[in-house]
Amino acid sequence: MVNTKGGRLPKLVISTFCMSAFAILFYVSDASDPTPLQDFCVGINDPNYAVVVNGKLCKNPNDVTVNDFLYKGFNVPGDTNNTQGANATLVDITRFPGVNTQGVAMARVDFGPYGLNTPHLHPRGSEIFAVVEGTLYAGFVTTGYKLYDTILKKGDVIVFPQGLIHFQLNLGKKDALAYASFGSQNPGRVNVADGVFATTPRILDDVLTKGFQVDEIVIEQLRSQFSPENISVNTGRSILKLLSQTF
Ligand SMILES: *[C@@H]1O[C@H](CO)[C@@H](O)[C@H](O)[C@H]1NC(C)=O
Ligand SMILES: *[C@@H]1O[C@H](CO)[C@@H](O)[C@H](O)[C@H]1NC(C)=O
Ligand SMILES: *[C@@H]1O[C@H](CO)[C@@H](O)[C@H](O)[C@H]1NC(C)=O
Repeated sequence: MVNTKGGRLPKLVISTFCMSAFAILFYVSDASDPTPLQDFCVGINDPNYAVVVNGKLCKNPNDVTVNDFLYKGFNVPGDTNNTQGANATLVDITRFPGVNTQGVAMARVDFGPYGLNTPHLHPRGSEIFAVVEGTLYAGFVTTGYKLYDTILKKGDVIVFPQGLIHFQLNLGKKDALAYASFGSQNPGRVNVADGVFATTPRILDDVLTKGFQVDEIVIEQLRSQFSPENISVNTGRSILKLLSQTF
C-alpha cells in the first residue's frame, strides 16, 4: 500500500537513512592515516620540540627541498645473520620524515636460506606484500583464530589486514626478497614472542605460567631466547610488592 498523502516524512526518513548508510560506508572504507590538510608536512626530529600531534611537527615549507621527499638506500639488503635468518627494514616516519601526514610507509624484507620473518603485527596499518625473489610460506590469523596461509612465489602479492598476526618463511636454500607497503606513516611492529617474553620490565611469572599453562622453567627458557635482559637476575618485582605500592 502506497502512502500518497504524507509524502514528506517518508522522504525525510529515506534521505536520513541514505545519509547514515553513506556515513557507515565511508567510515569502513577509511582504513589509512587521516587525509593531509596541506600539500605536505615534512617531519622534523628536533628533540627540543616536546609536543607532537598525530605525527611530527612540520619543517618550514620555505626550507623544504626535493631531497626531503627522497629516501636512499632501499636497495641495501638487511643483515640476515641472526637467529631468525631474516631482516625487515621498515622505512617509516622514523627513517623518512617526508612521509609525515601522507599515510604511507614501505619495508624491504630480506630472507636468508629458510629464514623467518617472525610472527608479528602492525597495530596502525594494513600491509600489502610483494615477493620479488624466492618462494615463501606466508599466513595471517584473524581475531577468530582462523589461519589463512599460502605459498607465495616471485610476483605474488598478498594483503595482511591491519593489526592481525602474520609471518613469512623462506622455503628455499637461496636468499629471498619482498617489498611491503603500509597504509600508515607509522604502522608499528609488535613481534608476538618479544611482546610477551622480551618486555621491560618482564611480565610477572604469575601471568605467563597461567596464561601459557606451563611452569616457570619453561617461561625462563622462552625468555632466554628473546630477552636481552640478564635472565638469572631476580628483579624483585612481585604482585604483593606492586599491591603495596598501589594502596
Ligand atoms: C638488520 O640489518 C641492519 C642493517 O644491516 C642491521 O643494522 C640490523 O642489526 C639487522 N637486524 C637484525 C635483527 O639482524
Ligand atoms: C654471523 O654472526 C656470528 C655471530 O654473531 C658470527 O660468528 C659469524 O661469523 C657471522 N657469519 C657471517 C657469515 O657473517
Ligand atoms: C648475569 O647476572 C649474574 C648474577 O649477577 C652474573 O654472574 C652474570 O655475569 C651476568 N651475566 C651477564 C651476561 O651479564
